[in-house]
Amino acid sequence: MKSYELREKYLNFFASKGHAVIPSSSLIPENDPSVLFTTAGMHPLVPYLLGQKHPAGTRLTDVQKCVRTGDIDEVGDATHCTFFEMLGNWSLGDYFKKESITYSFEFLTKVLGIPVDKLAVTVFEGDDDAPRDEVAASVWEGLGIPKDRIFYLPKKHNWWIASTTGPCGGDTEIFVDTGKPVEGNPSPADDGGKWVEIWNNVFMEFYRHPDGSYTPLSQKNVDTGMGLERTLCMLNGYKSVYETDLFSDIIAKLEELSGKKYGSDDAVTKAMRIIADHMRTATFMIGDEKGVTPSNVDQGYVLRRLLRRAVRYARMIELDSTLLTDIAKMYIAKYKDVYPELGLGAEHIVSEIAKEEEKFSKTLGNGIKEMEKVLKWVQGDTLNGKTAFRLYDTFGFPIEMTVEIAAERGYKVDIEGYNKAFEDHQKKSQAGAEQKFKGGLADTGERTVYLHTATHLLLASLKKVLGRDDIYQKGSNITAERLRFDFNFERPLTEEEKKAVENAVNDAIAKDMPVTCREMTIEQAREEGATGVFGSKYGEVVKVYTIGDYSKEICGGPHAEHTGQLKHFTLLKEGSSSAGVRRIRATID
Ligand code: SER
Repeated sequence: MKSYELREKYLNFFASKGHAVIPSSSLIPENDPSVLFTTAGMHPLVPYLLGQKHPAGTRLTDVQKCVRTGDIDEVGDATHCTFFEMLGNWSLGDYFKKESITYSFEFLTKVLGIPVDKLAVTVFEGDDDAPRDEVAASVWEGLGIPKDRIFYLPKKHNWWIASTTGPCGGDTEIFVDTGKPVEGNPSPADDGGKWVEIWNNVFMEFYRHPDGSYTPLSQKNVDTGMGLERTLCMLNGYKSVYETDLFSDIIAKLEELSGKKYGSDDAVTKAMRIIADHMRTATFMIGDEKGVTPSNVDQGYVLRRLLRRAVRYARMIELDSTLLTDIAKMYIAKYKDVYPELGLGAEHIVSEIAKEEEKFSKTLGNGIKEMEKVLKWVQGDTLNGKTAFRLYDTFGFPIEMTVEIAAERGYKVDIEGYNKAFEDHQKKSQAGAEQKFKGGLADTGERTVYLHTATHLLLASLKKVLGRDDIYQKGSNITAERLRFDFNFERPLTEEEKKAVENAVNDAIAKDMPVTCREMTIEQAREEGATGVFGSKYGEVVKVYTIGDYSKEICGGPHAEHTGQLKHFTLLKEGSSSAGVRRIRATID
């Protein structure tokens, strides 16, 4: 089966069950600073899973572009890809377990023709947070899956959440028999490769809070996800995803350009897989509607790592790395009917790849020579952090690449030393530069400090008035005159809401609550339920500012000593900042 057939069959099937077919969203999440990329089909749908009405209705289906970089080091094996497409269907407070499982079963056995005796499933075994899922199990049994192929597993396996907080729930996972002989009847969690997972149906009925507690969502949802690449591989009986039509012509091109044969030896196979995977991901990242360009931070850094790694692996198979643009062009041609943004951005994609390739090619050879020279003199088995930093700063080696190359030669890298060298360098280059408001205040004049405290009260009040625990700071800018605060919310605030927020802040001021500060680890701060969206940008130990029992935020400070000092709060203006982000200007007198 070809990729277009599977996409079409899936969407048509769910359309026939009353689902609206919606387009894929961007690879860059709209409202979530905790992750760099969209990692699942449900990601762009979070507001709707939390109860907001979706314009297309309560039954949705799509094919979503996703990127997961967590197991980038596994790429090169048979199944791991950094970019993949996720086929998904959702019920937003509409149907639940019975229909969801029945639809999945019908699609797999009737539309795809997978024999029932090739299927196994897992369900949630239950714990203090949610009961054992006898409902899902009995639906499966009713459909003909025998008891000994329904496995009950704990949260570790059968519970799904996108990150540490948010909508979540127990799930049922569907597996297909690879035919690999095994002893006994092991569960898919421990089966030595007998079962391959192709579909995950999540019964999303809880919200997980920062303190680890769960509360029921206002509606019961279903969120399912099926990996396109993996399912195609299974349906065709292939050994790896690179044999599917998504990659096979790319691999053939790499053979032609390099004069090497895929499958001839492990190193060549791995290199071709890595190039094929990374170039596809890079093409989609640059060509995304919110296009990424190579840089040293966030999404841009991931893109840079992927492209530089592809360049290095191209060299390893003696492939002229300027030809990587040819590979990108093939991907654009292959995907542009499904993802028109790639066709529209074709020139830009190719030119960004060419630029990055040129930049890195110049220094790659010298960097490797330098590294080999240094490794000759290394005492013990660890490359020091200063050298790793020099390889980054002078030769453009992402640290992950230095680690990888060192490992190939049997050495480790002192990552702590690298981080320290990196920070020292940053401190030096920042000295004298304009200090910006970064989780703390640059201007520590009295009014600015009080406005900073007002910002904390404002966030706590927004959560309270709008009844939403998932509201967080998207941006903050404070001058002596006013505060400006951006937060995630999908619609304008009503006049009543604005007034209520203003009143709530003024009540907190009138109560003259103490503002206290404690230092703790980021984990403790999370456990105590402190708000803070800057994640790893903070060091290990953070300051947590508490205002009475009203607000608790990770923050660099400084702040007022007690809220009475703020006197009176006025909300000046509320408006849109960007899609899904609102901006409030306010002041104190
Ligand atoms: N969100 C679930 C997953 O990614 C199901 O779509 O597996």
